[in-house]
Amino acid sequence: MHSKATHTSKRKKDHISICLKDDLNFITKTTGFENYEFEHFAATEVNINKIDLSSLFFRREIRYPFLISCMTGGTIEADSINAKLAEAAQNLNIPIGVGSQRQAIESNKNHNSYKIIRKIAKDVPVLSNIGAAQIAGMNSMDDIHLIIDLIEADALVIHLNPLQELLQPEGETYFKGLLKNIKKIKKRISVPVIVKEVGSGIGKKTAKILLNNGVDGIDVAGSGGTSWAGVELIRKGNREEKYFWDWGLPTSYCIKKLNKLKKKNNFLLIGSGGINDFDSAAKALVLGADIVASARILLIEAEKGVKPIVDLIENWFENIKKIMFLTGASNLTEFKKTRLIKKKDLY
Ligand SMILES: Cc1cc2nc3c(=O)[nH]c(=O)nc-3n(C[C@H](O)[C@H](O)[C@H](O)COP(=O)(O)O)c2cc1C
Repeated sequence: MHSKATHTSKRKKDHISICLKDDLNFITKTTGFENYEFEHFAATEVNINKIDLSSLFFRREIRYPFLISCMTGGTIEADSINAKLAEAAQNLNIPIGVGSQRQAIESNKNHNSYKIIRKIAKDVPVLSNIGAAQIAGMNSMDDIHLIIDLIEADALVIHLNPLQELLQPEGETYFKGLLKNIKKIKKRISVPVIVKEVGSGIGKKTAKILLNNGVDGIDVAGSGGTSWAGVELIRKGNREEKYFWDWGLPTSYCIKKLNKLKKKNNFLLIGSGGINDFDSAAKALVLGADIVASARILLIEAEKGVKPIVDLIENWFENIKKIMFLTGASNLTEFKKTRLIKKKDLY
């Protein structure tokens, strides 16, 4: 017997194993962060030992402006991965998302793979996750309440992934009703609503529509990190469709464009997609991200254990403090006011 839930679990399992063993980088496209240089400030008077990186995730204080992005759940393999990611989040006092909870709606067989995050990450913001196709086809609010209650979520994340659905053999590409339902959900739930992509980026046109429909946060999840087109093409055994493998808006471009919308709109801007080192994380913050987020690099660390995840994130922020010292910024507000120079203007 192959129920819908069994198919979803199988797909989640495939995603984990492909993300762990295949090269999913974009082929020619990059995040764009490498095109910028920090403006060195030789007259710095910053006390590096007093730099405070604590930030707000909506109203909650977190130690670093960093989020462990939504990844997995709904398959037995997810239990131990989520347990490790949750322990790291709890340890670091940073927020963490769960993977798509579609499987939890279809069956209660793997509810533990999601609940384990809340159980371990007791004191930090935990984020629910569901896809655009499920939102578009939603008949009642029951499923939304179910996934939020399951993990006592502090926010709901909706992922928009038209490219992934387009290339997925079993993909659902009809999203009629999506915006209307996002607006409805926003009105009916008490936690903030964040909308994200999964690697193709959110540009100005999309962001404006989302903000008009009431969303509280946007995670750009831009191009240059993990290619989800790549994941689905590998699942199909068709690595040749290179054009779509590389489709999307680079992460740095999305952050820069969406930062401009902050003048008129109050929303949390999350910078993600290929945040795989401290340099990208720091540049994302200066370009306008309120917090940054990573996914696949943390899944890879989770294979090694909890400490490697914690060490990686702490190491990034120790290096970001050094960058802040060298650019004359004693806190994140000052850091955001520092300048990035386009590399083409350096020579
Ligand atoms: C194994 C894995 C599973 C993922 N599943 C989801 C998901 O269920 N929902 C979601 O919104 N994003 C999902 N993502 C996408 C990430 O949240 C992220 O947007 C994307 O991978 C780009 O970030 P990266 O370059 O840091 O990997 C997943 C990523 C990974 C690595």
